[in-house]
Amino acid sequence: DAPEQLRPRPPVVTIMGHVDHGKTSLLDVIRHSKITEKEAGGITQHIGAYRVPYENGDIIFLDTPGHEAFTAMRARGAKVTDLVILVVAADDGVMPQTIEAIDHSKAAGVPIIVAINKIDKPGADLDKIKRELAEKDLVPEEWGGDTICVPVSAKQETGLDELLEMVLLQSEVLELKANPSKLARGFIVESKLETGRGPVATVLISEGTLHTGEPVVSGIYYGKIRAMFDDMGKAVKEAGPSYPVEIIGLSGVPMAGDELMAVADEKDAKQVSEHRMEK
Ligand code: GTP
Ligand code: NA
Ligand code: MG
Repeated sequence: DAPEQLRPRPPVVTIMGHVDHGKTSLLDVIRHSKITEKEAGGITQHIGAYRVPYENGDIIFLDTPGHEAFTAMRARGAKVTDLVILVVAADDGVMPQTIEAIDHSKAAGVPIIVAINKIDKPGADLDKIKRELAEKDLVPEEWGGDTICVPVSAKQETGLDELLEMVLLQSEVLELKANPSKLARGFIVESKLETGRGPVATVLISEGTLHTGEPVVSGIYYGKIRAMFDDMGKAVKEAGPSYPVEIIGLSGVPMAGDELMAVADEKDAKQVSEHRMEK
């Protein structure tokens, strides 16, 4: 892309951390939503993608499950993201999936901001948490390192503005840009087969703009975008860089992590998909 085609795009921030440390609760208070209440057993089972309007722009959040069974999702989340918010419960500390999240983020070269959550709890111990983080090479700024740690409470809704400010500061440093004026590319963050709708996939657009009616290929599947919906379920006609969008119209259910590509005409889409199926 020529530099003059690049436009600023919103940061994509993945929330990671050990099971039940409060990732979804934190996102709920940031979004004024109540996802946690609807989750079976209070466990996040998939990657959720959400747009949060903040100050002069949007922040895109990906929520990941902390349960140990979901390693692949955390790896995927780290890959498609610009920043990671690592949630550590102040009354619990650095746990196995905290360490795994740190490893995934480092492997993907993604900066980490730590949210030390549940500081309202009687057992909260900030110094202990910071010591444990420092042992994992995340030395807090106030200790001379370069890791930003923000104490928060999803329950009492404290520290959230500080956290979002840090996210904005860090993303400004990254100077995130993409070309919105070309055929879209993106990644499938989740997918499923829905009765009545057929294959449904949530795509995170990385570059270009996706429009309804456009032919696309993803994995071994292809199709024409029949309809698109934003994270609130509202029908939309287009989605630009960084935005998550739910699409219907694919010939099958692509795998999470697969790339999605818009192509110039439907014959190309079918051909690419058939070629991939032969392999
Ligand atoms: P998984 O997605 O299953 O890994 O969990 P999670 O990290 O999304 O945690 P979740 O938001 O489901 O919260 C787990 C529990 O901690 C719930 O019972 C929340 O009400 C509670 N919780 C979350 N944040 C806070 C907080 O700041 N303070 C207190 N006291 N409890 C909290
Ligand atoms: Na939970
Ligand atoms: Mg959760």
